[in-house]
Amino acid sequence: MKITENSITLIRPDDWHLHLRDGAALESVIADSARQFARAIVMPNLKPPVTNVELAAAYKAEIEAALAKTAYSGSFKPLMTLYLTDNTSAEEIKKAAESGFVYAVKLYPAGATTNSDAGVTDLLGKCRPALEALQQYGMPLLVHGEVTDPSIDLFDREAVFIDRVMIPLRKDFPELKVVFEHITTREGAQYVRDAEGPVAATITAHHLLYNRNAIFTGGIRPHYYCLPVLKREKHRLALLEAATSDSKRFFLGTDSAPHAKGLKEHACGCAGCYTALHAMELYATAFELAGALDKLEAFASLNGPAFYGLPHNEGQITLVRQPFAIPEALSYTGNESLVPLGAGETLNWQFQ
Ligand code: DOR
Ligand code: ZN
Repeated sequence: MKITENSITLIRPDDWHLHLRDGAALESVIADSARQFARAIVMPNLKPPVTNVELAAAYKAEIEAALAKTAYSGSFKPLMTLYLTDNTSAEEIKKAAESGFVYAVKLYPAGATTNSDAGVTDLLGKCRPALEALQQYGMPLLVHGEVTDPSIDLFDREAVFIDRVMIPLRKDFPELKVVFEHITTREGAQYVRDAEGPVAATITAHHLLYNRNAIFTGGIRPHYYCLPVLKREKHRLALLEAATSDSKRFFLGTDSAPHAKGLKEHACGCAGCYTALHAMELYATAFELAGALDKLEAFASLNGPAFYGLPHNEGQITLVRQPFAIPEALSYTGNESLVPLGAGETLNWQFQ
């Protein structure tokens, strides 16, 4: 890694948590991720969800066809995932492990977020065969770590998930590789830092840059609404500390999640922030504010591959200290537009 007054050069990074969608939406967003990252773990929460290896193969082919229409054909690799359901069999996990293109399985507690209706209702009651197979084949379980119990306050759902699900899961499956996705709390960061066994976490750029005030500054600001929702400042600081620490358990996952402008600016607005356009600029901004630019390469380019048991990428990328004005909107499906996070603001870094 090389840092000068005006540039940062680091090993080409990967995005370990990404929503690419399908159809026309996929075609409009794929180049943004492929420009900055070499690989991405692709979330399976399509409608209908990617619940088996056959669907994952078809989705991979669709992504590759969309990539072929961009300048990045061949230089970006989608790492596919399966969507865990109450009925996922050990046999399907075996097929996934042997496929060579499925890298992980995603747990969405039923009802926790966008397209999670088909998710898991009772992880330790219904998914033991799949969990045993995942543990056996060394395939990571990626966890959306929020309870869905409506009696639990929205802002406490991650912390309660640790006690109710994560700790019992790790007790029963101590060798299972688990990635606690998009952690948002001090409790989440502490749990991952201290837990025994193969545990890691992804952290988004938006949870490093913003606290929950961003959703309510001067009115309700739907483009800052995502799940798990932004938390208090003390949690943002804990995430920043984790991301810039020397722990290899924390790595980059944008959770970039495109939704049409009209569905974000809506009476019941969708959850998700679009950050694929300027992901590395956002992370560099957060790391620089923390005085820790020298930790960006481990977080963005080294810790993720190490956890997944993959080599890091060969090439490098450079960010230069030049103002980057985040566009107000990007073109999206049909007549819709897509509003990137921080639209209208200017960042100090620009991806070259
Ligand atoms: O904000 C979010 N958006 N959180 C998720 O967990 C899902 C994602 C989406 O698919 O839009
Ligand atoms: Zn996500």
